[in-house]
Amino acid sequence: MITYLENERQFQLDTPHASYVLTVAEEGYLLHTYWGKRIAPQDLTDLLRLSDPPFVPAKNERERASFLDCAPFDFPCAGIGDYREPAIVLEDGAFACDLRYVSHRIYNGKYAPRCLPHTWGNGCETLEILMRDEPTGLEVKLHYTVFEGIDAVIRSVSLENCGSRDLMLRRVLSASVDLDDDRFEMITLYGSWARERQAERLPIRHGKQRIDSTRGESSHQYSPFFALVRPETTEESGEAYGFTLIYSGNFTAQAELTQFCQTRAQIGIEAGSFAHCLSTESEFDAPEAVLVYSEDGLGGMSRTFHRLFTDHLIRSKYRYAERPVLINNWEATYFDFDLEKLKTIADEASRLGIELFVLDDGWFGRRDSDNCSLGDWVPDQRKLPGGLKPLTDHITGKGMRFGLWFEPEMISPDSDLFRAHPDYAVGIEGRPRTQSRAQYVLNYARRDVRDAVWAQMKEILDTVPVSYIKWDMNRQLTEVPSPAFYHPYMLGVYQMLERLVTEYPDILLESCSGGGARFDPGMLYYSPQIWASDDTDAKERLRIQYGASLFMPPSAVGSHVSVCPNHATGRITPFETRANVAMFGTFGYELNVAQLSDDEKAQIPAQIARWHSISRLIREGSLYRLGNPFAPTGFAAQQNADYDAWIFVSADQSDAVFTYVQITAEANMKSRRIRLAGLLPDAVYAYELGGKAYQKTGAYLMQCGVMLANLWGDMTSVQLRLRTL
Ligand code: GLA
Repeated sequence: MITYLENERQFQLDTPHASYVLTVAEEGYLLHTYWGKRIAPQDLTDLLRLSDPPFVPAKNERERASFLDCAPFDFPCAGIGDYREPAIVLEDGAFACDLRYVSHRIYNGKYAPRCLPHTWGNGCETLEILMRDEPTGLEVKLHYTVFEGIDAVIRSVSLENCGSRDLMLRRVLSASVDLDDDRFEMITLYGSWARERQAERLPIRHGKQRIDSTRGESSHQYSPFFALVRPETTEESGEAYGFTLIYSGNFTAQAELTQFCQTRAQIGIEAGSFAHCLSTESEFDAPEAVLVYSEDGLGGMSRTFHRLFTDHLIRSKYRYAERPVLINNWEATYFDFDLEKLKTIADEASRLGIELFVLDDGWFGRRDSDNCSLGDWVPDQRKLPGGLKPLTDHITGKGMRFGLWFEPEMISPDSDLFRAHPDYAVGIEGRPRTQSRAQYVLNYARRDVRDAVWAQMKEILDTVPVSYIKWDMNRQLTEVPSPAFYHPYMLGVYQMLERLVTEYPDILLESCSGGGARFDPGMLYYSPQIWASDDTDAKERLRIQYGASLFMPPSAVGSHVSVCPNHATGRITPFETRANVAMFGTFGYELNVAQLSDDEKAQIPAQIARWHSISRLIREGSLYRLGNPFAPTGFAAQQNADYDAWIFVSADQSDAVFTYVQITAEANMKSRRIRLAGLLPDAVYAYELGGKAYQKTGAYLMQCGVMLANLWGDMTSVQLRLRTL
């Protein structure tokens, strides 16, 4: 609900448990007034600290600069005396911008940033505030949307040059919030290839703490997410403010603790790698930012992100639908396969009940290694005589569906496409291009380049029955001609993805970027699932998936059972645990099933049946994290034990699935009691543990817990299904 108090010129956006309040000051500055636990609409202008002493910059020009440097802005400008980080930087020969309120409107529905992924759906209301920089004629619309029942504010920014001169945009962030407080810790996710989304939690300090990407993708190294939490905030209690960006390119996310102990929190496109010439009468949209408030700890924050993204961001028809259990041949064969080998895997997979066969890298051109052929999307007749058809016939003949890997944004120097069109690759005239994984990036800002790839993909999609695509992106951008390139590149990628999901709406799309370098909300708009990491080791996955679930729905976490010793770590973990961990995501297999032991093979049909019986809980249920795989290294100081646990609970709380993983076994540790969460206290839940049937109230399970016997060995696990009687 959005309220406007006319006398105070105060806007209030209310969600079930939170309020977000803005005030238009006398001179037209838009000031951030309050964001936190819900409060009844009332005069909050005292919080702006403008009246003590009474201070109106227009009447005290001498002190205007000090006003600008401490007033709590909701979209701060550069160049006029606010020395904190601005949200907008404009260059028009001069270097200043001074946005003042012009008008506003409140309406049902929301603004959709053009050509960008965005939230959508009914049951939402928007506050639009029009601001203007008089000297340049730049008009900026700030959009604030709230969806019914969801404790989030969705912000976006659109600009129009209504002046007579071209303007150079040097920075346009999507959200900036000045919190009148310094008692925060900042949670961010850092990582690397195969080690994505490691959670870190540190007190904020004076100055700026920032994560960002300038790599042309949201990146393995940092995720476009951060949270500001209280020192006492835990998984299920305390305040948490979460921020993310619905964008897959360069981003910046930062907190700045100022001289007056206020915290400026911001998220948007990274400014150093951004430039946009806004010619007269033209417009520009910045991506949507999502701001979540929770008084129920990190868990409450994550569940809000999950609900919002599942109900109002993912568009695929698979968002609420059962997804097929897949087998992917990458870790099974890498580039070394032929038709017969694939058939052997498919035969065994179909016998065990696996429903979708995904052919990964290596099927096109002459790709025996990662040294060549990207851009030549023509089946390799040496490996697949007669093309893909004999294989797809075989697979569909077995009643399985067929999926295919593409890396559509890339070009190998050793490819027919590059030989014919060297200019298709991103580069700078007169400077050698840097190779990475022996490949270059295609210039997706160019329509003809996109069309050339699209024509090849379409040829395949119209010839063989492809019901799943893995869209990969395996290198970061270099030798980009100018900072004005990155955003159009990203828009080009989004245009291709849009084309794909519009023309082939039945295809289940899984995006990927060298594992999880584009594991971001922008991608969710196109692909309901995203490969989370090339690291399939169950132990490492606990951390990667915990980190991912802080802001992304578990239904999106591409997660597979692979062989041991694991290819990324050499670790050996029980087959059963690998499955239990992969069930915190999309669930599939990535190994040569034909080479498994009889015992492992025998477990697969039961795992698939179990998965189908719980997958709705993973897709639509509420996640409560009950353990913390970072605990021994101190991410959550309140806990030392080396285990992880989580529970997914259905919307009506009558059904739940609980998983416990003992990471490291400890001698003489008799048993461990894990208190559950999210259940109905008075309902009686039935479950089976260690061959014994139990019936316990939700209150018992949440206050006393389930008792897990000392499990034997590292990485052993238990999964329980709990249903009300
Ligand atoms: C990336 C992906 C892998 C696999 C390979 C193929 O690394 O993340 O899953 O598809 O590319 O080259």
